[in-house]
Amino acid sequence: MKKKLISVLLTGVMAASLLAGCGGAAPAPAAEAPAAATEAVEEVAETVEEAAEEVAEAVEDAGGADGLITVGFAQVGHESDWRTASTKSCQDVFSEANGYDLSFVDCDNDEAAQKEAVRSFIEQGVDYIIIDPIIATGWDTVLTECDDAGIPVIVIDRTIDDSDKYVSWVGSDFLTEGKAAGEWLKAYAEKQGITEINALIIQGTIGSSAQIGRTDGFNEIAEREGWTVLDQQTGDFTEAGGQEVMESFCKSYEGKFNVVVCENDNEAFGAMTAMDNAGVSYGPGNDVILISYDACTAGLEKVKAGGITADFECNPLAAPTVAGVIDTLEAGGTPEAQILVPDNWYALADAIVDFSVDGNAQSMIEVTDEVIEAQY
Ligand code: AHR
Repeated sequence: MKKKLISVLLTGVMAASLLAGCGGAAPAPAAEAPAAATEAVEEVAETVEEAAEEVAEAVEDAGGADGLITVGFAQVGHESDWRTASTKSCQDVFSEANGYDLSFVDCDNDEAAQKEAVRSFIEQGVDYIIIDPIIATGWDTVLTECDDAGIPVIVIDRTIDDSDKYVSWVGSDFLTEGKAAGEWLKAYAEKQGITEINALIIQGTIGSSAQIGRTDGFNEIAEREGWTVLDQQTGDFTEAGGQEVMESFCKSYEGKFNVVVCENDNEAFGAMTAMDNAGVSYGPGNDVILISYDACTAGLEKVKAGGITADFECNPLAAPTVAGVIDTLEAGGTPEAQILVPDNWYALADAIVDFSVDGNAQSMIEVTDEVIEAQY
């Protein structure tokens, strides 16, 4: 790319000096100026113009006038602490200091706005597009447009389930998170001598792969164990949504439930407020076992304070791995199609139990001040 840039720059410089030479020569009397000379000047002017256009194109191909790699990121929104950590990580990694020019769009959980953001990146002609898909389906048309424009797409966090027109996906295994929550509950309930499980689930955004995986994973264990899932409704991954759903659950299922599963920490915070207001006790040793996902700093603080009984991590720091994918592509290599970001499971010492997921023994981390301090 650099060679092409240098060659077109040289062409431009040569043409410009030719033109300067013509302009600097002593002018022939108008009557004697041969038409051929005028034509020659016009030709040189045209060459200079063409060269300038080529220079502009080559500069753009080479990554912009400043040599940065241009990246468009269509982020889900700003619904949770997890999302804030993910956005910060992307903005830190795809910074100018690291050689990137990032166009960031917060899509505010609006599927149509997210597709429009991707189309605007195509218009801009960015080098790479990163998508965290709000919903898992409905992507093939816009991904075909990216493909036609020759722009590689990298999917981060949530998955796209109805198109394969992207280079790589980097994120967590949501199904395993859901199964881990279920298997932990089985082992913890046995340890506590609890023989009957009546669960309520506050789901994430319906149709997002984070919701689908966690709901399916937990329900698979619930069915196998013969537990009762009294109800499941979406809280849209927000604190307000979690509170609203839990308020309605507290009225409809008063005294009938002993487990609440919130599909992210912010929903759990809302559910805790609703249970506080309804006089329902939760956390280790209390009436309701409260399970959450994400394990962000604020979530782990609630574990430490004895509110959330166990928290199943979804690591939001995938951006450095995405940058690695871009490095591989820049070097002409083929990145892995799927790259899993590892997660951990957290609880207080008394709620740490042995369990397996699909035959694989799991380990848990005890939540201490140091662990909270080190979390995002
Ligand atoms: O897609 C990841 C999920 O989305 C996180 O669990 C949640 O907090 C976020 O909003």
